[in-house]
Amino acid sequence: MTVARDSYLFTLDVPREYPEPQPGQFVQVTTLAELVLRRPFSVAGFRDGRHLELLVEVRGKGTRGFAEAEYGSTVDILGPLGNAFTPPAEAESAVLVAGGIGVAGLRYLAEKLLVEAHRTLALVGDRTRDALLDHLFPEPAGGGRYRVMTATDDGTAGFHGAVTSLLEDQIGRLEGNARIYACGPRAMVREVARIASASGLPCEVLMEEIMACGVGACRGCVIETEGGYRTACKDGPVFDAADLVLAEADDDGP
Ligand SMILES: Cc1cc2nc3c(=O)[nH]c(=O)nc-3n(C[C@H](O)[C@H](O)[C@H](O)COP(=O)(O)OP(=O)(O)OC[C@H]3O[C@@H](n4cnc5c(N)ncnc54)[C@H](O)[C@@H]3O)c2cc1C
Ligand code: FES
Repeated sequence: MTVARDSYLFTLDVPREYPEPQPGQFVQVTTLAELVLRRPFSVAGFRDGRHLELLVEVRGKGTRGFAEAEYGSTVDILGPLGNAFTPPAEAESAVLVAGGIGVAGLRYLAEKLLVEAHRTLALVGDRTRDALLDHLFPEPAGGGRYRVMTATDDGTAGFHGAVTSLLEDQIGRLEGNARIYACGPRAMVREVARIASASGLPCEVLMEEIMACGVGACRGCVIETEGGYRTACKDGPVFDAADLVLAEADDDGP
């Protein structure tokens, strides 16, 4: 299903014994027969123990091949892989910050938080209204415990400005403790980490590094942390923002 220009939501039927993924985990998928390396995608939803949802933005050959796959095609999936987000404590609000296709990494978490009736604020940003993927987050059920707010760079929907500016605007209005979860472009993640640190709030980020094996064997996805280099696929993809060394020079990366 097309959800925005160049972004698609896929439902994959998995065997009954498929392990239940945790929010933050990902799968490695073969997207085209001629591509040797699988491509990593966050678990964007899991329904009835049988239906795995992936939200995919076309970037290159692999994602294009996936987007053009025919209904009923078979794909090879490895996973669920990697670690998961730490659930918020009962007294903590969850603040989700998603930039662009980063919605994919936080959607499953948002669904779980809504089911648990956890106090949640989801902030979704993109360049312009047509690109926004906020409609992929679950609908607020009323009662005000779960809210979605949007931000666009050009002001065509929601807050006029970066989603990180919206975060700064909202953070002071939160009642009690909060825990931040972020997924999106590197520059956004770096700014969220800065805001979290300045506010003294715990923050976890899902890092979308370029990957090869996906299981910790090739070290092709290492990421610098205060404790040394870690693999994004096995030690991550979720990291405590305070542990990451996020250099501005890497902002143009994935
Ligand atoms: C843990 C994890 C979860 C991810 N979840 C999602 C998701 O839910 N939905 C989604 O659309 N994408 C997600 N990605 C990114 C996705 O894996 C890449 O966009 C994809 O592998 C690109 O493959 P390709 O063959 O189309 O592009 P390629 O031809 O390999 O590359 C095209 C462009 O994409 C960039 N790219 C390559 N690999 C990555 C990567 N790992 N992350 C970001 N950019 C990359 C390249 O730098 C290049 O500019 C995730 C990545 C990781 C590591
Ligand atoms: S992709 Fe091989 S170690 Fe992470």
